[in-house]
Amino acid sequence: MTDSINVNYDTQIPNNVGLSSDKRVLKALEKWHPGYINWWNDLIPQKFQQSMIYLRTAVSVDPKGWAKFDYVKMPEYRWGILLAPQVEDRRIPCGEHYGEPAWQEVPGEYRSLMRRLIVIQGDTEPASVEQQRYLGLTAPSAYDMRNLFQVNVEEGRHLWAMVYLLQKYFGRDGREEANDLLRRSSGSEEAPRMLGAFNEETPDWLSFFMFTYFTDRDGKMQLEALAQSGFDPLSRSCRFMLTEEAHHMFVGETGVGRTIQRTCEAMNAAGITDPFDTDKIRDLGVIDLPLIQKKLNLHYTLSLDLFGQEVSTNAANAYNAGIKGRYMEHKIDDDHQLTNDTYKVWDLVDGKMVHHEVPALTAINMRLRDDYIGDAAGGVGRWNKIIKKLGVEFEMSQPHEAFNRKIGVFANKLFSPAGELLSGAEYDAGVPGWLPTHEDGDFIQSLMKPCFGPGSYAGWIAPPKVGINNQPGDFEYVKLYEA
Ligand SMILES: [Fe+2]
Ligand SMILES: [Fe+2]
Repeated sequence: MTDSINVNYDTQIPNNVGLSSDKRVLKALEKWHPGYINWWNDLIPQKFQQSMIYLRTAVSVDPKGWAKFDYVKMPEYRWGILLAPQVEDRRIPCGEHYGEPAWQEVPGEYRSLMRRLIVIQGDTEPASVEQQRYLGLTAPSAYDMRNLFQVNVEEGRHLWAMVYLLQKYFGRDGREEANDLLRRSSGSEEAPRMLGAFNEETPDWLSFFMFTYFTDRDGKMQLEALAQSGFDPLSRSCRFMLTEEAHHMFVGETGVGRTIQRTCEAMNAAGITDPFDTDKIRDLGVIDLPLIQKKLNLHYTLSLDLFGQEVSTNAANAYNAGIKGRYMEHKIDDDHQLTNDTYKVWDLVDGKMVHHEVPALTAINMRLRDDYIGDAAGGVGRWNKIIKKLGVEFEMSQPHEAFNRKIGVFANKLFSPAGELLSGAEYDAGVPGWLPTHEDGDFIQSLMKPCFGPGSYAGWIAPPKVGINNQPGDFEYVKLYEA
């Protein structure tokens, strides 16, 4: 047994998978490494490549203490390959192989299906770093900049995690896929990233926070489903990625929460009680709550599209093969094969939304999306508590899942956020109030001014309640490089 809890930092590529005795894979990864470093170097503005950033690095996969914090230059970050500890006698948790021992190698019959799932997951990881590449320049504080870069280096590590699986278990096609992961890039005309939401820009910090709250949470759900995989190395990879992912969603939730807090405080100080008095509120240099709601609507609906078609044979095949489970598969009380079960999915009949029952096996995507919707509600509730506590009358909400969709039964249908089907004219009249307009974008851009000094924060966002790793409020999270 070569795997361990502690990470070996002696090799160029830190790992707990015994890489030094696996020459073939080590060589393949070392060959891939320079391309990765080039990708990273092309990505982040120079002044931040040279700066010292207070980052956490995984040193173990023990949930009780897996990371250490220190200053690092990002290109020197130790991107490692880390798998959660092997569970003894682990069994395939779902599908036709239910109860059989988990696979340590990829079964031939599932090779291409499995490779595709790993590639899709892998493709999202560098994509988000690409989308966020310019945000450092307008960070509202050193604390936020540090969080951005923490998320970025960990998404980079997640790419490594998927590339390891491709190189180790998929031979030559795995190698080609690993190279293609560095060839595609977010928003590119010739070689875009595979999923729509990952080709959208992240133009400002509120978008970044919404992205890390809503889109990283799609990532969480996908990783949870892959963590159930009967292919044990995939399961273990995803389990450890989930540990890191929690921080990304924390950054999103607290980022949006701090933006909301600052807006409400500024309204109170100026004696503005109507949250829709947006001109006056914007004059205060804060983002009005209706605009924050519009950003929420956009990022939430883009993220819903990531779950794919409600009824899907691909999803059914992956589940039935035991490659991808349901969210919390082990806690669900059924046969884990879904032989006779049904599940409710949305459908449109004569322009009316109806729920109808389909075989549960075909509704795996819908179920994961439903779980996501419930999971995402938690933070929205906590944002509303901030608003309430500050005495402002406004409530954030998740729009109906029919609104603003590009994928699934509601794709390109004109629904309002409340879920009413509208005429073209009604939709056009309503949409400036539901999704950010160009003018809204210009306004947010006007607030995106760098604020890098220790302990100082841009005027549109409140400071955090606690520092990273319990550091004090004026902690120097970033030591900027000045040429
Ligand atoms: Fe990730
Ligand atoms: Fe993430």
